[in-house]
Amino acid sequence: MVLAAQTERASGPGLERWFAAAGAPVHLDLARSGAPARSVRDLLDLAEPGDVQEYFDMSLDYGPGIGTERLRAAISTYTGASPAEVVVTHGAVEALLLACGTAIGERQVVAVATPAYEGMCLAVEAMGGIAQSVPVWKPGSGCLDLGALCELDLAAYAAVMVNSPHNPTGLQADVAELEHLADCCARAGAALIVDEVSMGTLDSGAVSFGTSRAAESQAVMLIGDVSKAFGLGGLRVGWCATTCPKQRQRLATLRDVTSLGNSAPSQHLAALALENRSHLSVSEMARANLGRLDAWMGSRPGSSWTSPTDGLVAFPGLALPVSSLAFAERLLANHRVSVAPGGFFGHDRHLRVGLGLPPDVFAEGLAQLAEALGEAMCGADR
Ligand SMILES: Cc1ncc(COP(=O)(O)O)c(C=O)c1O
Repeated sequence: MVLAAQTERASGPGLERWFAAAGAPVHLDLARSGAPARSVRDLLDLAEPGDVQEYFDMSLDYGPGIGTERLRAAISTYTGASPAEVVVTHGAVEALLLACGTAIGERQVVAVATPAYEGMCLAVEAMGGIAQSVPVWKPGSGCLDLGALCELDLAAYAAVMVNSPHNPTGLQADVAELEHLADCCARAGAALIVDEVSMGTLDSGAVSFGTSRAAESQAVMLIGDVSKAFGLGGLRVGWCATTCPKQRQRLATLRDVTSLGNSAPSQHLAALALENRSHLSVSEMARANLGRLDAWMGSRPGSSWTSPTDGLVAFPGLALPVSSLAFAERLLANHRVSVAPGGFFGHDRHLRVGLGLPPDVFAEGLAQLAEALGEAMCGADR
């Protein structure tokens, strides 16, 4: 079934506004979807002496709008896209916005694989398009099913948007299925926007869709960032890569009125992170947390559970006696634990739980969550 995304959000503000209203993150922040934050020092400690010097002496003048050569080369080794295909952006969120802006024209509808990170639908709407939600997952399912997207009359669509690894479930799209979707989009003259911001976090062996045969297609626009996998959200560095020169030209032109370019220090630090990514892997930590969550879920009556395969979030279904939003607010007020309510993703019996935390913090968060669930159940019995 295809629903208008606007209808799903009609009940109030979305997750990002809810986070903003909640203020500074708490210590037991199981709502986060990325790795623990890193510092400038963490990155400079990994750098060669010359790189540290370069950082201090760096000109703060405008740089190239598409991003520095060094950063685009580092993104290339991470994604498989060639440096010339990469446009650096302010986080993946600007990449989504620009990708939508280039795709939307006479065709206005963008099919968004849902449940989804809300920025995907908002980017479509901000660019004057119409976001259509196309469900690719239902509770209990252990895979993303892209079939409904392939069956659309794609000649009527500006673009299709897929996020893999998927926020909120942590599932990965099957590469063959995604390649088939890319072929369908290419034949229909629609873009395929693939957001893979959390790639390789839980699954250290995961590779970018940019290395697949379909990435050669001019229909594909690949989106990533250094925010999630490396805990560098504050650098505001993301990218959009495409083999289509016309699309790149349009991305660059649009970019002239969004942000012109990224800051040189941010790009330098992002390049250092990507070049030294083997030292920054969080997969061991995420797997330890997932093991604990798996065991925890096994002991919860009335729960439904699909274990994530990549990314830093999990989406357990729980027997919540109240709405996920009401539960999350009580959990925060009474236990100082933050989780993301599943209601924001259209699945109110679910909570999104982040795996990118030190294991002791994660364990304490889970213990508090269990206590709050017990209290909520007692309250429901009264
Ligand atoms: C799937 C997805 N895409 C994009 C973003 C935006 O990330 P950023 O702008 O920090 O790179 C997020 C942030 O939560 C996300 O979850």
